[in-house]
Amino acid sequence: MSSTTSYTSVDITAFFSQTSKLWKNDGIRSLFPLEKIPGMISLLAGRPNSSTFPFESITMKLKPALAGMPAPTGEDDPFTITLQDEELNEALQYGMTAGVARLIDWLAEFQTHTHKRVQDGSWDITIGAGSQDVMYKACLALVDDGDYFLVETPVYPGALGFLAAMPCTLIEVHTDAQGLNPANLEAILSTWETTHPGKPYPKALYTIPSGSNPTGASIPEERKIEVLKLAKKYNFLLLEDDAYAFLYYGPAGQQARSYFTLEPEVNAEQGRVVRFDSFSKVLSSGMRLGYMTASPGLCAAVNLITSNTSLQPSTFSQIIAYNLLSRWGPSGFLAHCAGVAQFYRTRRDMFERVAHKHLTGLAEWTTPIAGMFLYIKLLAHKDGREADSWDLISTKAVAKGVLAVPGTAFMPLRGPTPFLRVSFSIIEEDMADEACRRLREVILEARAEAEAEAVSRAD
Ligand SMILES: Cc1ncc(COP(=O)(O)O)c(C=O)c1O
Repeated sequence: MSSTTSYTSVDITAFFSQTSKLWKNDGIRSLFPLEKIPGMISLLAGRPNSSTFPFESITMKLKPALAGMPAPTGEDDPFTITLQDEELNEALQYGMTAGVARLIDWLAEFQTHTHKRVQDGSWDITIGAGSQDVMYKACLALVDDGDYFLVETPVYPGALGFLAAMPCTLIEVHTDAQGLNPANLEAILSTWETTHPGKPYPKALYTIPSGSNPTGASIPEERKIEVLKLAKKYNFLLLEDDAYAFLYYGPAGQQARSYFTLEPEVNAEQGRVVRFDSFSKVLSSGMRLGYMTASPGLCAAVNLITSNTSLQPSTFSQIIAYNLLSRWGPSGFLAHCAGVAQFYRTRRDMFERVAHKHLTGLAEWTTPIAGMFLYIKLLAHKDGREADSWDLISTKAVAKGVLAVPGTAFMPLRGPTPFLRVSFSIIEEDMADEACRRLREVILEARAEAEAEAVSRAD
């Protein structure tokens, strides 16, 4: 476990955007912490009076099979969560900007447990309405007009969506079956001054290290180490979006350690890695809970934006999550996640089975060890020439009654690509089988068309 003293703190303020300085304390929320001072009488917030809320109590039943807990004993039923009285009032009320304090404390313990980072003041946690919320706000705090931003490619369109609306230029970094390619990253950075004369070096890299959306790839630890070294050498922040970290179903004990774990060890630094975690894939996506683990300065900058925009993440969702997580403890939660990951592993196996049955010789993919996606390369030409999947997937496949995402959606610069993404998270085997059969027809027809065209050209 890393200890405090010998690490350099990355000066996060040097990365802040000019606009991040325009956000100001809202004058009310910034005073909330003072309410905790013993004896303080607060006339502060315009909180609605909880006695007027129509909820007497709220009871939730947990699924025993997924609860990751021992069987219920006596009267204390660990499969039931009841919110009432004070706790219910709290859940239904406005709360702190960064999140409910005891949930933040639980998460801090969990990060220490999982990532072996001691709570030494070099990092903090802020909760958002999903990880998307805190990712967006972090980028808002960082991106300036004229900045360059590295994005692994192909990449999650949700990140591209908000980055496209920011005044920065996106630089595509290649990935392969092993995730982000450090050699390509180095090639981009080592030639920067000739390719981008007079321009600032990229400020940050956005990457999805486990079970990437869309590629399904997980980057091995050796590559992470190379990427971290480049981050230090070229002084950029590393935005680690690990939304699928809990869905690891590769060989036991071989999950690569996170960038957040590796940062002090590899670079003797703290604060360059900005980590995003999500509860969406393992508790509920509708609860909208995710969190950022980052330098206190960046957490404060995000909190400032939150206090002026969405005000806070849902107290209700947080209290439910806290009830669950505090019963489980870090190892119970991880046991639950392992069960969820196993579920997706079975789904992956099922989908690959039907894909092999219908698409062998017509498509290629790499078997993922985490996440819920297969990134499939269509072999639309017999001779191996590549064809963009856009028309095939968005027109011909739709006409055959099968929907998948054409790879272009994941390309920051919208370049052509022969890939498509399929999700195996909710599809049942009979439907997956039929979908792959239809995709087979699409590819065979595309091949026949291409051959006919070639013949007519030759005539
Ligand atoms: C890579 C990646 N990051 C972030 C998110 C958003 O997660 P959340 O629901 O926590 O906002 C998703 C959702 O699909 C995702 O695929």
